[in-house]
Parts: sequence; C-alpha cells; structure tokens
Amino acid sequence: MNTVAGTGKIPLSAAFTEAYRRAPEGVWHAPGRINVIGEHTDYNDGFVLPFALPLGVSVAAARRDDAVLEVRSLQAADAGVTVSLDGTGPGEVQRWAERERWAAYPFGVASLLRERGAGGASLLIDSDLPQGAGLSSSAALECATALALCELYGLDDLAADRAELARLAQRAEHDYAGMPCGIMDQSASLLCRAGHALMLDCRSGLSSHVPIDLPGKDLTLLVVNTRARHTLTGGEYARRRAECERAAALLGVDALRDVKDLGAALARLDDPVLRRRTQHVVTENHRVEATVGLLRAGAETELGGMLTASHLSLRDLYEVSWPEADLTVEAALRGGARGGRMVGGGFGGSVIVLTATARADRVRDAIFAAYRDRGLPEPDFIEAVPSAGAHRL
Ligand code: GLA
Repeated sequence: MNTVAGTGKIPLSAAFTEAYRRAPEGVWHAPGRINVIGEHTDYNDGFVLPFALPLGVSVAAARRDDAVLEVRSLQAADAGVTVSLDGTGPGEVQRWAERERWAAYPFGVASLLRERGAGGASLLIDSDLPQGAGLSSSAALECATALALCELYGLDDLAADRAELARLAQRAEHDYAGMPCGIMDQSASLLCRAGHALMLDCRSGLSSHVPIDLPGKDLTLLVVNTRARHTLTGGEYARRRAECERAAALLGVDALRDVKDLGAALARLDDPVLRRRTQHVVTENHRVEATVGLLRAGAETELGGMLTASHLSLRDLYEVSWPEADLTVEAALRGGARGGRMVGGGFGGSVIVLTATARADRVRDAIFAAYRDRGLPEPDFIEAVPSAGAHRL
C-alpha cells in the first residue's frame, strides 16, 4: 500500500476507500516549512519568517457516527490506531507501541476538537515530507487533521481563524506529544501563501505576508536534508526554553524579546551560557526585521549574509547546530553560495542554502564532495518554493 499510493500511482481517496470500505468525504493538505530566519525566537515572544514548502501531509477523512478516531498512514501501514475520544486523556499515548506514537498528533488534535463539538473520524494519512528532517512534518500532520475535522464538523469559525487553529495544534503537540514547541511551525502550515514568506510576531500573533521572489532575482534556495535525524522531544529544546526564561527573569523582562539594550543585559548576566542564549535571541530578532526590510526593498540577493550570520549565532551562541549542518554551510560558501543556515530546532535536520541559480550545480557538487570526503551518506536536495498554506484538495 505504501509503495502504491506513496508513489502517487493511486490517489489517496482511492486508498482510503480500499482501507475503510467507504469513500472519504474529502482530502486536505497541510505543508511543511522552511524558516528563512528567526530561529528559537518564537517561544521568546519574538519574530519568525517561515514559508511553506510544496511538500506536506495529506489527510483523507470521513466522519464516524461515534466518538472514535481511527487513523492509519501509508507511511506506517502496520501501525494504525483506533481510540475513543471520550474520556481518553493524553496519557493513553504512553500505552501505544513506539511505532504507533506518530498517531499522538492527530489524536491530540481530534481530542481538543472534540471539546469544540467535533466527533469521531476515519483518517488516512499520506506524506511526501521527510520525517525528522526539521521541516515540520509533525505540524503538517496536526494542521491537516485540524482543518479536515473542522470542515467535516462545520466548525467554520475555527477553520477560518487560522491563528486560533494554530494554537490548538500547538497545544496538541505540547500535551499529547510532549514537545514544548513554539507557534512558528503550525502558523506557517496554516497561514502561509504562495510566493510569500510569513512575518509573524509571536507575541501579538499578528502576521503579514512578505513577497519573496527568488527566480526573478536569478536565485535558488536549496533545502539540504543532512540526513542526521533530529528528535526534538529530547531534552535540549526544553532546556533552551528554560534557559531563556531564566535569563528573562534575571533581567526583569517578560521575555527576551523585550531586551532593548543588549550590552547592558549581557553585563547583568553572570552565567556565560545565559549570556550566549540572550545574545542569540536578541540579535536574531533584529536579523528577522532586517531581512523583512531587504525583502520589502526587493533585495533578495542580499539575504545570504543574514542567513550565514544566523547560522553562526545558532552554532556558537545558541549551540543547537550539528556537524553535518556546519559542514554543509561551509562547503556551500566555498562552492560560491551567498549564504546558508540550519533550520528548525537543531541537532539534526536540514540546512537552507541561497545561491545564484547559475551556481546552484557547483554549490551542490561542493556539498556532495564534502560529504563524500567525510564518508557521510549523501544528503538530499529539495528546491524551496514558497507555497500555499493548508487547504482542501
Ligand atoms: C522547532 C519548534 C518551533 C521553533 C523552532 C526553532 O521547529 O517546533 O516552534 O521553536 O524549533 O526556531
């Protein structure tokens, strides 16, 4: 089943009919994302600038007349889950086998939507987004499920309020998957528009769509999946959050976003780790604003320096980069790229590289050669094209 529908040979709706012996009521899609800039700023009430990828998660869905969620995936044909939404808490997930844990995301969303009046459903999931690649496959799964259930159960106000829906999906990830993520990934998946990046103020929730025209400037943004898998439910992400909260408390501000005088703030912090975290967050927020300024001026060619500065800050100050990411950025720059940086939470996943289109092959070859020299498995390349947010297909 995986190979048949996963390669697009039979549509997801036909696979649903085969799996559940009835037709789906619809198919919904939610994309993964890259983040142009603004990493580890979202939970510091700061700014982010992601855009949606053409890759994502699709969900074929039909209502059930009981309050049961039945969920299967073409990527995990032997690991479906059937669970009652009434009276089943997040702790249920701990009883599932490891290979079934992916279902915590749709289960969390369906449980939270049950409180808003949605009922049970049968879902069949398909994804062309690599998992563990730092491209938000979990958020895409949450958001596709959320939109499907809202539309099936006539929760039209919620379906239209994408910012609120993003918060619900984020809550599902916190409470059911145990990952204390910020709001960037769910917002990107639900709010992005084709041809635009999403400038999001993670404190106010206000966002704007910033045009980004790479082909018009003869530029290509490559996504390099370093194949070092990341898992963010591990402790490092939560530790970074806690460090930022401690620094903010010591500085007497609500969040690091509120630091206005970086020099004075650094002088007040004794702990060198908290100083490094603070310096990253404050400067990264400025880089997001500067990047938006460059985009609004049509100066896409100048983004490279911002990307590389962000990477160095994530590597040296925030300490969330990983060897393959550093290698990729260094090799890309040597190959003539304009800039590059790791994306997402870190400790594995993907890197974005901005290059003149005419140099893209040379840059790719330089990266391949660097991996080969180190005996590393070949990385995967995707071209990042700013795409539409979640929608019904
Ligand atoms: C992960 C989280 C996001 C964000 C990034 C880092 O992707 O899900 O909320 O914190 O890491 O910018």
